[in-house]
Amino acid sequence: MTVTNTSTTPPPDTRRVDAYEKVTGKARYSADRVPEGVAYAAFATARIGKGRIVRIDTSAAAAVPGVLLVETTFGPDELRDVGFIMAGGHAVQSLQPLRDDHVAYRGQPIALIVADNLVAATEAAQLITAEYRPEPFTVKIDAEGAETVVQEQAIPLPGLADIKVGDADAAFDASPVRIIGTYEHPPQHPVPMEPFTTVVRWDGDRLIVNDSTQNADATRYGLATQLGLDPADVEVTTPYIGGGFGNKNSLYGHIGPIAIASRRLGRPVKMAQPRPQTFHTGSFRPNSLHTVRFGADENGRLLAAIHEVDQQTSRHDLFPCEITTVSSRLYAVPAFRGRQRLVRTDVQTPGFMRAPWESPSMFAYESAMDELAYATGLDPVELRLANDAVADPVTGLPFSGRHLAECLRRGAARFGWDERDPEPGSMIAEDGSIIGWGVAAGCYPGGMVPAIAHIAAAEDGTVTVAVGGHEMGQGIRSAIALLVAQDLGIPVNKVIVEVGDTRLAPQHLTAGSWGTATALSAVQAAIGELRKALDNTEPGDVDIPAAVRGTGEPVVTAEATTLAPGQTPQILQQLDNGLLAYAGPVYPEFVTFSWIAHFVEVRIEPTTRRIRVPRVVSVADCGRVASPVTATSQVRGAVVWGISAALREESDVDDRFGGFLNNTLEEYPVPVNADIHQIEVGFIDEPDLLFNPLGVKGVGEVGMVGVAAAVANAVHHATGRRMHRLPIRLEDVL
Ligand code: MOS
Repeated sequence: MTVTNTSTTPPPDTRRVDAYEKVTGKARYSADRVPEGVAYAAFATARIGKGRIVRIDTSAAAAVPGVLLVETTFGPDELRDVGFIMAGGHAVQSLQPLRDDHVAYRGQPIALIVADNLVAATEAAQLITAEYRPEPFTVKIDAEGAETVVQEQAIPLPGLADIKVGDADAAFDASPVRIIGTYEHPPQHPVPMEPFTTVVRWDGDRLIVNDSTQNADATRYGLATQLGLDPADVEVTTPYIGGGFGNKNSLYGHIGPIAIASRRLGRPVKMAQPRPQTFHTGSFRPNSLHTVRFGADENGRLLAAIHEVDQQTSRHDLFPCEITTVSSRLYAVPAFRGRQRLVRTDVQTPGFMRAPWESPSMFAYESAMDELAYATGLDPVELRLANDAVADPVTGLPFSGRHLAECLRRGAARFGWDERDPEPGSMIAEDGSIIGWGVAAGCYPGGMVPAIAHIAAAEDGTVTVAVGGHEMGQGIRSAIALLVAQDLGIPVNKVIVEVGDTRLAPQHLTAGSWGTATALSAVQAAIGELRKALDNTEPGDVDIPAAVRGTGEPVVTAEATTLAPGQTPQILQQLDNGLLAYAGPVYPEFVTFSWIAHFVEVRIEPTTRRIRVPRVVSVADCGRVASPVTATSQVRGAVVWGISAALREESDVDDRFGGFLNNTLEEYPVPVNADIHQIEVGFIDEPDLLFNPLGVKGVGEVGMVGVAAAVANAVHHATGRRMHRLPIRLEDVL
């Protein structure tokens, strides 16, 4: 391909507004935004599974030329407590390393080194030695030392209580067809290409942070608490993030220590964590064990469903389990009982990883549904259609939008599902490979958060929008720019989008697939205010330069605040303090989910038994598709991740060592291009107008939900073997 555009202004691109900046290397990530005189930080980490540090020797590290600072412990007044984000705080976990001699898990940082250059910092970190007094530990959810608590007792919040509809146990016992299945989902790590990367510097008493985060205001307010600063004196910017996936959800434990080091040294400090450390500092998808029971009549109509889960957490925090939120909603089941327990193990606190609960939930639930199809002799698509729901089976409220049946019908037609012979192992390819076809459905809660958008129109025709949101590669800038351009009838390259900047608008966590619906709703409202200020309220194109000149001002500004359905302005206190303020999926008058159906073909090679996935068709209902190119990429990427969950990813643990052992990209296998073939993505594209005026719902996470089950169901169709544990290994199909 030849590049003909050599100008410095980006050409208009209505599909992906940051494509030009990205492919030309102009997009500046946290690690690229480095001031003069920066020093480099590195961690030494604990090499035992749990215990106390008896003695730590930093002399060799301190002697490395270029080393500026070696610190093992910061005082309680210097580095204060910041709570866990899911317990009302601002941090990825309540445990702040480098505060005492306690080692909670292998891989926990035990010393901070800052040096003139990265080589010296890294070398010095390796020269830190420690003597420990080890204590018993476990990293396994089913080991003796793991402590199990009942979630609804341990965290008495209504949204986390066990879901109970009718008497599911009695209904199950009385059902003519009964299915019981146990499933295990391994721990996994999100491994974004850009690791945890932060550059800090002080401007007098003002702390300036370039961070790779999905939650700039949690980082800001968390740092203010931790360091005893006025939040007005902390700014966090994160214009581009090299993948987040839920991993970069709040204040990380390295940022406070490097900020203190920067103040002491009078120099900016940068830390980019090496990959193995991110496996022990970053949140991960916890291990979960599932038992699913279905009771049904002979026609496959569900009479009872019971979904019991044990989900891993850390010793020091309770990362909640919301696995039954989706399983209770997927089908019209008259009696449902969920049970969610948390199991404390000696690891860092687990957290979000794309479709954190929903993907494991649907692996179990939709695998069991496939079992039910075989038990009743019904086609798996027909079985799902027969159990479609009109209203939310848990609350009785209507769904704001649910086109799951249409996703299944369209997907089946595009895939050619009619041609499927249900007999396992009956479809053989020309090269002798066994063909398996599997289907699974999925859903993801429709969340929204409050947001404030500022908009400014200038005489030269540019329109600048600043709003809460973080660009992690999902395309939020493109969706916002497209909305402004289409509404005002201006070229997309006249729209400047500013996200991830705490100076410009409150920056709530962007996660839970609520980013686009949230930001677009606020921007849409701000456009309405701008139109009023420009005296241009009739729908249709606006001549921005003329309208601005008409006001006599060089720039016309407007702003708007939007809330999730049912929220009151009180919630803005949360938003204004960097705390979680999300709502959904249950709103006062309706319940909102995004929906999807996946159709997967696997081929199992006759000699090697290697499992291939040549073809996937996925049809999603995410309301109105705000940005077709980025939405399609989101679903395609999510399907790749689902294939990865099914066939590749597992974080290895061993109770002899603790920690996560395969903590590099060489040893933590993810799919490569050769593993991925045809992925066809379709959308229903019906606006969900009850949810918000634009009718936009999330798509980034629902795309992954159900993929692993569809792969496992396809493997069953090929081999007759039910897969009870992910990832599916060669030995499972030998
Ligand atoms: Mo997503 S795992 O909620 O960033």
